[in-house]
Amino acid sequence: TAQELALPVGVTLDRFIMASQSAFPYATGELSQLLRDIAIAGKIINREINRAGLVDIAGGNGTENVQGENQQKLDIVANIRFIRALKNGGEVCAILSEEEEDIIYTGNEHGKYVVAMDPLDGSSNIDVNVSIGTIFSIYRRVTPTGSPATMDDFLQGGRKQVAAGYILYGSSTMLVFSTGDGVNGFTLDQSLGEFILSHKNISSPNNGTIFSVNEGNYYSYLPSVQKYLDNCKQRGYSARYIGSLVGDFHRNLLKGGIYLYPSTKKDPKGKLRLLYECYPLAFIAEKSGGKASDGFGAILDIVPTSGHQRSPIYVGSAAMVKESVQP
Ligand code: AHG
Ligand code: MN
Ligand code: MN
Ligand code: MN
Repeated sequence: TAQELALPVGVTLDRFIMASQSAFPYATGELSQLLRDIAIAGKIINREINRAGLVDIAGGNGTENVQGENQQKLDIVANIRFIRALKNGGEVCAILSEEEEDIIYTGNEHGKYVVAMDPLDGSSNIDVNVSIGTIFSIYRRVTPTGSPATMDDFLQGGRKQVAAGYILYGSSTMLVFSTGDGVNGFTLDQSLGEFILSHKNISSPNNGTIFSVNEGNYYSYLPSVQKYLDNCKQRGYSARYIGSLVGDFHRNLLKGGIYLYPSTKKDPKGKLRLLYECYPLAFIAEKSGGKASDGFGAILDIVPTSGHQRSPIYVGSAAMVKESVQP
């Protein structure tokens, strides 16, 4: 498997992708190129974020997205940058973005892939210098190449993802992704401008002592969720909640923990979006040995019905997720 490839920590993302590609016939050259395009988009967004306070791209944009959220300027900038990088790459025929209601056509009708993305995750943390992220999910299109993509290409279901991952703009910038065979993490060496393999074959601890949830909503959760949170506290677990899904998920992936965004009275279907938040992180969770549930079954088994639908999510260390969703 890819994990058995003799790829030491310290190799560049390009080398890693090339080596995985030659080891696997299914890892086509196009998918490799697409992953490189995503890395480029990540570097560009990383640059924008780093200077946001200097060039007047911090703060609100005065607009709302399709979910009725206030868009931040960086939400828009990241959206534009990501779309541009994927257009230029040529492997993607269409994109679904948190920031746009309809499918975005790249003009590359011969592209074999579609990408669902959350260009900038953790909007509320942009202006206060706290970690934010980007989330992406890749499918091979089901409609014929040479014709426009349709919603069918995006509504294949989580198990049909061919790759998924995230970029975390934190104390360092990291790209974490899986093409279905293990999860690997790359840290951006800012001086070289290269992502370097730093976290090889990440394995999610089966159990942990961190719980990440917006406890301000406690009285709005189901009694079963309240009981789980009470148990966490009785055991003296650590509460850790950034409010940036990517950052919270990444911490728990490395250290062992659970992230919950259950349904609330205000959002009975939860807050997070299935296609570009829940599915990709569920994919990473499962490929690293963790679990992701909507409270009833695996997130990846949910049959999707629309591009921007939401889902409750319980994701992270397998034993914790199992316990949290027990009736
Ligand atoms: P986004 O910034 O992409 O709209 O996502 C926001 C999400 C997620 O990053 C975070 O975990 C969650 O919203 C926080 O929500 P609360 O403020 O309700 O806790
Ligand atoms: Mn948003
Ligand atoms: Mn988000
Ligand atoms: Mn977002």
